[in-house]
Amino acid sequence: MHAAKQVVRIAALGDLHHSRTAAAGSLQPLFTQISEEADILVLCGDLTDYGLPEEARSLVRELAPLKIPSVAVLGNHDFQSDQPGEVARILVDAGVKMLDGDTTEIEGIGFAGIKGFAGGFGRRALGPWGEVIIKQLQDYKRGDRGGSFMLQISRNLSDRDIEDVAAYYDSLPKARTAPARYDEATAPALVRVGDPLRNIAPCIACHGGTDHKLGAPWLEGMPKEYLVVQLRDFQTGTRRNDSHAQMRNMTREMTAAETEQVADFYARRPKEGDGK
Ligand code: HEC
Repeated sequence: MHAAKQVVRIAALGDLHHSRTAAAGSLQPLFTQISEEADILVLCGDLTDYGLPEEARSLVRELAPLKIPSVAVLGNHDFQSDQPGEVARILVDAGVKMLDGDTTEIEGIGFAGIKGFAGGFGRRALGPWGEVIIKQLQDYKRGDRGGSFMLQISRNLSDRDIEDVAAYYDSLPKARTAPARYDEATAPALVRVGDPLRNIAPCIACHGGTDHKLGAPWLEGMPKEYLVVQLRDFQTGTRRNDSHAQMRNMTREMTAAETEQVADFYARRPKEGDGK
């Protein structure tokens, strides 16, 4: 066993998205330079654009000048064509150490790797691809959730960007949850029981912990100003992206004081994990 180096320089590179249309040799200068300046190369997922074996083979040709050990994980894009095994095998054949839930040691440094898509494909595949987030971003883009700087941001997002962003946020632990029921002494009546005479359903029926309707966002812990603006925008129709006008109907009969009250209530509810 030879002695471990005093200083080990690690180069990390993610999201290469190497595609069929990439010019041959375009990445070779980069890998030449990395070989000169680093001791280990870490490739952090999304090595290919569509997970095609031919993209992987093309990437391997780009990697030819690499003279240092490399270790890599796959990302969600590398799964896109359902051939992640083939993509990984091509890279392994080229000398890249692929990690998928396992570890390796190079120059005395341990590397643990798992594909860069939280939860992976499998149980969480496709179903929960952040549809809520996708819908909201598309709604902003179309102008159905107007009057906001999000309009500017979403305008420049492609469908692909929106899916990527949604998948990322969907992969994060959910910050907010709602309890199954609220304490009568503290929760406003509109939240708990609504007001049937005015056709206002209880907020908890859709935004609650057990009666949770797909597409109804968590409200707990959202900033009060944001909640008030959303409720007013539904009421005036400035925001009209709620399917079947659920929220527009709900807010039509609400008074300004009630809007304040429910917004205040939700804004004050502790976020999960906040100081109990
Ligand atoms: C019938 C189901 C239903 C009920 C009842 C309901 N909501 Fe909603 N609410 C929704 C849905 C669905 C959305 C998401 C609309 C969209 O697609 O943007 C929503 C969105 C919202 C939003 C915007 C959240 C965001 O992140 O933009 C607020 C605020 C809100 N509701 C507050 C309330 C309040 C307060 C009540 C009770 C007075 C209530 N809702 C009752 C279904 C409901």
